Amino acid sequence: PETGCLSIIVLGASGDLAKKKTFPALFHLYCQGFLPPDEVHIFGYARTKISDDDLRNRIRGYLVNDRSASPSEDVSKFLQLIQYVSGSYDGAQGFQLLDKEITKHEISKSSQEGSSRRLFYLALPPSVYPSVCRMIRKYCMNKSDLGGWTRIVVEKPFGKDLDSAEQLSSQIGELFDEPQIYRIDHYLGKELVQNLLVLRFANRFFLPLWNRDNIDNVQIVFREDFGTEGRGGYFDEYGIIRDIIQNHLLQVLCLVAMEKPVSLKPEHIRDEKVKVLQSVLPIKDEEVVLGQYEGYRDDPTVPNHSNTPTFATVILRIHNERWEGVPFILKAGKALNSRKAEIRVQFKDVPGDIFKCQKQGRNEFVIRLQPSEAMYMKLTVKQPGLEMSTVQSELDLSYRQRYQGVTIPEAYERLILDTIRGDQQHFVRRDELKAAWEIFTPLLHRIDNGEMKPIPYRTGSRGPAEADELSAKAGYVQTHGYIWIPPTL
Ligand code: BG6
Repeated sequence: PETGCLSIIVLGASGDLAKKKTFPALFHLYCQGFLPPDEVHIFGYARTKISDDDLRNRIRGYLVNDRSASPSEDVSKFLQLIQYVSGSYDGAQGFQLLDKEITKHEISKSSQEGSSRRLFYLALPPSVYPSVCRMIRKYCMNKSDLGGWTRIVVEKPFGKDLDSAEQLSSQIGELFDEPQIYRIDHYLGKELVQNLLVLRFANRFFLPLWNRDNIDNVQIVFREDFGTEGRGGYFDEYGIIRDIIQNHLLQVLCLVAMEKPVSLKPEHIRDEKVKVLQSVLPIKDEEVVLGQYEGYRDDPTVPNHSNTPTFATVILRIHNERWEGVPFILKAGKALNSRKAEIRVQFKDVPGDIFKCQKQGRNEFVIRLQPSEAMYMKLTVKQPGLEMSTVQSELDLSYRQRYQGVTIPEAYERLILDTIRGDQQHFVRRDELKAAWEIFTPLLHRIDNGEMKPIPYRTGSRGPAEADELSAKAGYVQTHGYIWIPPTL
């Protein structure tokens, strides 16, 4: 691994994302020894004029470390690494000051090669990305005589549709090369999402079955049992398709559906993801169900006549040899009856089934991303006992049980480590982003223009009944009388 001085600059340091995700992830990395104090310095940058200690106090409460033997000591030591610089997002002054502070620190540690590694984390609204990137480019690049690099990390939303996303990409692209840009989609940092490649390409079980001859339909589902509390203003501008489906679920779809990459090199993997995205057919209106939970518009930051969906089921169809005819049912919703994210691969019925009169459920392979990470295969077995009857059961790999004592890292923790190491595999490449927007932009424009309306649904329900009808029409058969229960320890 590289050594030398590493400066991590969190822009938007007092915002929600920084407090809830970025600093806690950095803290966990610190506790595990990935951010050695003799090399690393962390800067918070924002407009508010506060002191170092003010910032430290604001984030302290978010730093929990249940894995450490001396948590409060770790917290204090970590906080000491953080220095605050205030300035605007488009003025030279603040960024010149920032550069001065970073450089001071680099010079004091410049005995090693590569002493000018600078990681800029933009925990900011995308509207300021272009100006911030310009300022970084102009004033804050790594000092070439000290070696090292400059990287920037950005978060969605990357635009609102194809044109705005492309515009943003080219503005940033004029300032930084693709290998310097890390577009985070935190679903790519989830343990079971990262496992997809291994599962699919390292197991003989799956290779011959993973295609249209055997698989009837695939569902990728995200549910939350709370609404848009406190984020109504942001959410109403975007809606559930931009918030969850066009990025998180589509990334998962890529990994489920893509062909085997030439190698594990990030570019090879991302080439395959782009190919799948480019093979997705235009979405048909009749394969979309939109919903909005009752009470959504009561939020004072949401307009009274908002047409924004908080729920959507969208069927994607991939036009290639492997997947022709297999619906990929993407479903996401807020304020539903449960919180979970899973991939459900449903196989076709057994041909010439001699047990048919007993009404078997279909085989399913379920990957539960959260909560209670697990994967299980639903299958039919003989009901234990004297009679020859059948029953649905499962082969179950539940992580908490199988990997006792192993802590599954947070998505952000892992992804930030990748940015430091320079591994772009789990980040979204520019052409991938473009292809993703191409799929959803026509539908999004129709919704934005009020040509498609969300159906109201009750808070705490499964969402609109029409969504279940659509999945059934697409071929999904629900298994009755069977529920998978995560094992308790
Ligand atoms: C974010 C969305 O990207 O993902 C939120 O903006 C959503 O609306 C969140 O709640 C879900 O992430 P996770 O990791 O809790 O599933």
